[in-house]
Amino acid sequence: MCGLVGIVSGKPVAGRLVDALRRLDYRGYDSAGIATIEGDRMERRRAPGKLFNLEQRLDADPIGGAIGMGHTRWATHGIPNETNAHPHFVGDVCVVHNGIIENFAELRQELAEDGALFETQTDTEILAHLMARYTAEGHKPVAAMLEMLRRLRGAYAFAIMLRSHPGMMMAARCGPPLAIGHGDGEMFFGSDAIALAPFTDEVTYLANGDCAVITRTDVTLFDFYGLPVQRTRQMTQTSSYLVDKGNHRHFMEKEIAEQPEAISHVLARYVDFTSKSVKACNAIDFSGTDSLHIAACGTAYLAGCIGKSYLERYAEIAVEVDVASEFRYRTLPFSKRQAALFVSQSGETADTLAALHICRNNGVVTGAIVNVEGSTIARESDAVFPILAGPEIGVASTKAFTCQLAVFACLAIAAGRRRGTIDSAQEQALVGHLIEVPRIMSDVIARIQPQIEDLAARLARVRHVIYMGRGTSYPLAMEGALKLKEIAYIHAEGYAAGELKHGPIALIDDSMPVIVIAPYDRFFEKTVSNMQEVAARGGRIILITDEKGAAKSSLATIARIVLPHVDDIISPLIFALPLQMLAYHTAVIMGTDVDQPRNLAKSVTVE
Ligand code: G6P
Repeated sequence: MCGLVGIVSGKPVAGRLVDALRRLDYRGYDSAGIATIEGDRMERRRAPGKLFNLEQRLDADPIGGAIGMGHTRWATHGIPNETNAHPHFVGDVCVVHNGIIENFAELRQELAEDGALFETQTDTEILAHLMARYTAEGHKPVAAMLEMLRRLRGAYAFAIMLRSHPGMMMAARCGPPLAIGHGDGEMFFGSDAIALAPFTDEVTYLANGDCAVITRTDVTLFDFYGLPVQRTRQMTQTSSYLVDKGNHRHFMEKEIAEQPEAISHVLARYVDFTSKSVKACNAIDFSGTDSLHIAACGTAYLAGCIGKSYLERYAEIAVEVDVASEFRYRTLPFSKRQAALFVSQSGETADTLAALHICRNNGVVTGAIVNVEGSTIARESDAVFPILAGPEIGVASTKAFTCQLAVFACLAIAAGRRRGTIDSAQEQALVGHLIEVPRIMSDVIARIQPQIEDLAARLARVRHVIYMGRGTSYPLAMEGALKLKEIAYIHAEGYAAGELKHGPIALIDDSMPVIVIAPYDRFFEKTVSNMQEVAARGGRIILITDEKGAAKSSLATIARIVLPHVDDIISPLIFALPLQMLAYHTAVIMGTDVDQPRNLAKSVTVE
């Protein structure tokens, strides 16, 4: 995935292209580049690595021009060097692209046999060559693009400008999102409305299979056959201000600290504090639902695993959870009595979106649990349950995760009430626990900080860590391990505590830290037995438990983090905190790029 922006204006564009890229680097930060046309010159500046490198290059060697496009890259084809950085030029053609051209190898071979010389290892360069070929054959720009589209397989959004046509820019969408921004005497393309927020709050989202041509004053929309299409122009709510870190060293630290407030927003939306009941959860009527699918990726998938536990326990709905990249290729009997929930912070993740399309095409009722309310997944679902976490910038998801859990808890209570599996008194009790979350979170974050920092100093010296837990602590174990891997680059595995003896226990020796997540719940004694098995083999145990659990377990540990004892429904939200904080402080000690860890991106719009 990558971010792209295009501007057709009467004023200089270079600075504004860079501004837009700054807002898009959550989509990738392997390299960045811009290109403009000024007079009869088409020029570009590109740099590997973060946007800062491009800015330095532009400071040293600026470019003018009132039409231009920019790109921030997450590498798929070809290493992240300057040569592979977009925009790509072939003759008069300039292209920026987000996605993957799946038949790129065969197209590349065909073009090479025709004499095309390739400069890069990217699939994008194919687009530039095809456009150059079709325009050379005499096709007008739009006809050439349509001709090219017939040749492509894959998921892509791209924008094209031609040195020979400096007043217009073209784009097409097949998969990844693309928006048109309507300005005053200028028009824009952007991967999302956030990129365009400083320039305009009026956008038109391209639907899948749409093409567009923009000039300074006009937009023309048509489909892949060239037939006109109409799309609604809408106002966006996106703020033009970039979020800053405040007093925090990293966005991740800030986002961890923001969780009590973020959960308050969730509660304000989904809970009636006076009657202690849930509200705004009935956009899907679960009363007639036989079974439910949940599909998501990364941290959102792990939130889905905990959501499954809630829905099964409180609403007695059979739930299956899949990572979306697997779900989309399953062969499943769908029925109208099923529902499906898609969990996504960004609302743009390609696999999650594809999973949503499959359900929708099979008549399954769909619901989106998303942070970005104007996102594609939100727009294309039957019902939307916003998680209201506010902008999450750190690539490693933190507050979005706990907000997703809070929304799942409310949905499960609402579904339970509708299905008659919990009564009003139980609802009041569960909501009563949820209401306590912001206060408990604030206390916990402040109280465990010194201990976590100590422990992080020890973890920063190891190469492998095992996390284990049972029930909702099992997905939490996976989430703890995922956090440590992604930002501290320490190999970590999250295991179901009962499963350890079926293989991973062979890894245990006195150099292996094992982080045991064991709230005092119905699994506690079982988890303690598994912990004994690890201790008996010399494993170094770090126990994360609560006050009741601490009183019951006397086993020697190298560290023990004790949280308040809370009800099962809120325990995952509270136990997520030490896991996030531990990964964060370990990464800080190791000196990694916490907010933009290597090889990752915040939003993944390729398969
Ligand atoms: C990327 C991010 C993760 C995120 C996952 C799913 O891998 O680095 O933090 O959990 O995508 O993203 P989504 O926006 O769908 O929640």
